[in-house]
Amino acid sequence: MEVLSRGGANSWPASVAAAVLVAAVVSGALRWAKKRRAANGTTRARLPGGSLGWPIVGETLAFISAAYSPRPESFVEKRRLLYGKVFKSHLWGSPAVVSSDAEVSRAVLQADASSFVPWYPRSLMELMGESSILVLGGGLQRRVHGLSGAFFKSPKLKARLTAGMQRRVAEAMGGWRRRCGDDGGGAVVVRVQDEAKSIVFETLVRALIGLEPGQEMQFLKQQFHEFIAGLISIPIKLPGSQLYRSIKAKKRMAKLIQKIIQEKRENGVYEAPHDMIDVLMNNGSDQLTDELISDNMIDFMIPAEDSVPVLITLAVKYLSECPLALEQLEEENMELKRRKSDVGETLQWTDYMSLTFTQHVITETLRIGNIINGIMRKAVKDVEVKGQLLIPKGWCVFLYFRSVHLDGHVYDDPYAFNPWRWKERDIMAGSSYFTPFGGGQRLCPGVDLARLEASIFLHHLVTSFSWVADEDTVVNFPTVRLKRGMPIKVTPKT
Ligand code: HEM
Repeated sequence: MEVLSRGGANSWPASVAAAVLVAAVVSGALRWAKKRRAANGTTRARLPGGSLGWPIVGETLAFISAAYSPRPESFVEKRRLLYGKVFKSHLWGSPAVVSSDAEVSRAVLQADASSFVPWYPRSLMELMGESSILVLGGGLQRRVHGLSGAFFKSPKLKARLTAGMQRRVAEAMGGWRRRCGDDGGGAVVVRVQDEAKSIVFETLVRALIGLEPGQEMQFLKQQFHEFIAGLISIPIKLPGSQLYRSIKAKKRMAKLIQKIIQEKRENGVYEAPHDMIDVLMNNGSDQLTDELISDNMIDFMIPAEDSVPVLITLAVKYLSECPLALEQLEEENMELKRRKSDVGETLQWTDYMSLTFTQHVITETLRIGNIINGIMRKAVKDVEVKGQLLIPKGWCVFLYFRSVHLDGHVYDDPYAFNPWRWKERDIMAGSSYFTPFGGGQRLCPGVDLARLEASIFLHHLVTSFSWVADEDTVVNFPTVRLKRGMPIKVTPKT
C-alpha cells in the first residue's frame, strides 16, 4: 500500500518523466538515424563519397600541392575516379562538397541566397567587407548586379570604352614602336601581362569612376596594388601585417572615390550616366550609400587588374604556340583594318565583336586557361540538389569548372588549343559545360567587357607587330598568371 500509495503519489510525474525521457531518446535516435541515412544514402538525398582528410587541415594541402603543379585538376581527377564527379572533402577549414559535374554546378549556381551564399578565404572576406557585391545576398545584390550588368552591356558605355582603350593601346604600342627605333627596324622585349594590366586598369577605372589618367590615377594604382596583395594573405590584422596594410590602402582608395561622389553631387546636373558611380548614385535607393558605392567600385577593379589582363596574356601565349591560329587571326584582323581604313572609318565596338575567329580564340583561351578555376558557396541550410545530393548546412560547395572545361567526354582532345572547335558549338546558348564567367544569379556582369577589351588588344597587337615569344609557364595558384609576365620580342610591321 505504501508502496502503492507512494507509488500512487509519485507514479504520475514519474511516468510522465519516463515518457518524456523515452520520447527524447526516440526522437534523438530518429534524428540521428535520419542523419545516418542521409550520410549512408538510404534516403534519396545523401552526402557523396569522399574523405574529410586530416583533422583541421582536411585535404587543403593536397589541393594546394596539386594547384601548384602543371595539372591542378589532378586533385579532383584522382577523387573523381574513386568517388565520382561529386565528392566530399575538407578544404580551407570547412567540410566541402566538390562538384565537377556540370549539371550539379548549374543547379547550385541557379539557387538563391536562401540556399547558398558566396564563400571566400577569410582574408578576402575581411578585405571586401560585408557590403561588397561579391559577398552581398538577396535584394541588394540583385539590384547592384542588375544595374552594373545593364550599364556594362549598354552600347554607349561600350562605345566610350572602345574609344578610350584604343587611345590607350595606341599610346602604349606607339611607345614600343619608338623604342624599336625611328626606322622601325629594331625589336624590343615587352611583357604582355604588365602592359595589359596597365591599359586595362586605366580603361576600366575610367568606366567605373570617371577618373582620367593623371596624379589621382597613379595614386589609385599604387593603393590598389597594396590592396590586392592582401587578398590572399594570412588573415592577421595587426599593424605591419599585409592584411592591415591592405585594409589601410582600401580606406585611402574609398576616401578618393567618396570625394569624386561628393563632387558629382555638388556639380548637380545629371543627364545620362557616364560611369558606374553615376548609375549607382542615381538609382533612387537609400540602401546604396556612398560607402557601399565606393567599396564596390574597388571590388569591381579586381577583374580589371587581374582576370582581363590574364585573359589577354594567355591568348598571346596560346597563339604564339599555334602558328596556324595566329595566321588566321592576323588575316581576319588585317582584313578589318584594311576595310576600315579604305573608307576612313575608325573601329567601333561592334567591329571587334564581329571578328568571329578572334572571338573563338578568346573563347578557347577562357576554356583552356581557366582564369577562375572554380567558385565556392556556403550552404545556409541543408540543401538537396537534384533530389539526390545532400549539402548539409554550414558546408561549402566548391564548383570546379576547370575539370569540366578539360573533360575529354565534353571536349575532344581537351588539352589542345583548338579555337576551330567553337565553329560547331553555340556558347551563347549558355551551356553548363562552359562557365568561365560563372552562371545564374551571379553571372559575371563584365562578360562583354572582358571580350571587348581582349579583342581590342589582340587586334592592335597583330595588326601592328610581329613577335617572337620567350619561354614562360602558367602558374595556377593562388591566381592564374604567367610566371615571367609573358615576354615577347616585338618588331613593328611596316
Ligand atoms: C576574363 C575576365 C573575367 C572572368 C574570367 C570573370 C569571371 C567571373 C566569375 C566566374 C564570376 C562569378 C563569381 C561567383 O559566382 O561567385 C564573376 C563575377 C563577377 N565579375 Fe567577373 N570575370 C571577368 C571580368 C570581369 C569584368 C571586366 C568585370 C567588371 C567590369 C567583372 C565584374 C564582376 C562582378 C562585379 C562579379 C560579381 C557578380 C555578383 O556576385 O553579383 N568581371 N566574374
